[in-house]
Amino acid sequence: MNKTIVVIGASRGIGRELVLHFAKEESNTVIALARNEKALSYFESFKNVVYAKFDLASETVREDLEKILTNYPIIDIAINNAGTLVNKPFLDLTSEDLTISYQVNALGVIQSVQALVPKMLDSGGHIVNISTMGAFQGSAKFAGLTAYSTSKAAVTCFTELFAEEYKETKLKMNCLCLGAAQTEMLEEAFPGYIAPLSAQEMAQYIYDFSLTAHRYMNGKIIPVSLSTP
Ligand SMILES: NC(=O)c1ccc[n+]([C@@H]2O[C@H](COP(=O)([O-])OP(=O)(O)OC[C@H]3O[C@@H](n4cnc5c(N)ncnc54)[C@H](OP(=O)(O)O)[C@@H]3O)[C@@H](O)[C@H]2O)c1
Repeated sequence: MNKTIVVIGASRGIGRELVLHFAKEESNTVIALARNEKALSYFESFKNVVYAKFDLASETVREDLEKILTNYPIIDIAINNAGTLVNKPFLDLTSEDLTISYQVNALGVIQSVQALVPKMLDSGGHIVNISTMGAFQGSAKFAGLTAYSTSKAAVTCFTELFAEEYKETKLKMNCLCLGAAQTEMLEEAFPGYIAPLSAQEMAQYIYDFSLTAHRYMNGKIIPVSLSTP
């Protein structure tokens, strides 16, 4: 494949599985980013995985990512997979809860894309934003998820706006609104809930989508869920 892939939120869960998928192809270079360097050192023995500490809550997200990517002039695929989840009754939400949710789930994604665009414009690149079914219009909603789901909804809208602004270029952006997958985040949010998909299975779908979907769609918000309707 010979592609350079950036996975943001790569230290555990779906993101870690995504890195493993991309790394299977030896000609790929995978750049795995998250805050927890110890967890990222899981990739130490992988010849084609480079990992670095990266915090979407930093005040300099764009500059931090530009620095990390200095030696990579071309990025083919970027997956904005990181997310943080606050689960609290509406009236208990603090200003910090709302600020961190919006910074990590929305503003940090937009600022990361600002760093990525110059490296992806000519490659026919694909940016895949990972949102949630809770941010998909008309889906079932859950109490306690105002900070999380509204901040993720900002990313779905961003996807449409970005695709419009860059529609004359080769760079495409789509957004996947995930249903439940068995990860630590899910267990923390809904203890005891058994998801229909493993992190590995969800990562397989995202991996396939990231490689091909931009040939067929741009600016699309896709629900990835076994729930009906
Ligand atoms: N699992 C589900 O059922 C489900 C459903 C719908 C949507 N999603 C979405 O799918 C994505 C992956 O979910 P998951 O369940 O795999 O979550 P997870 O296990 O909690 O993993 C989240 C990843 O995001 C990273 N992250 C969190 N805060 C960050 C920050 N400030 N800066 C940089 N990275 C940060 C974490 O790494 P560090 O802590 O090391 O920074 C971790 O690698 C998320 O966007 C989530 O909202 C998941």
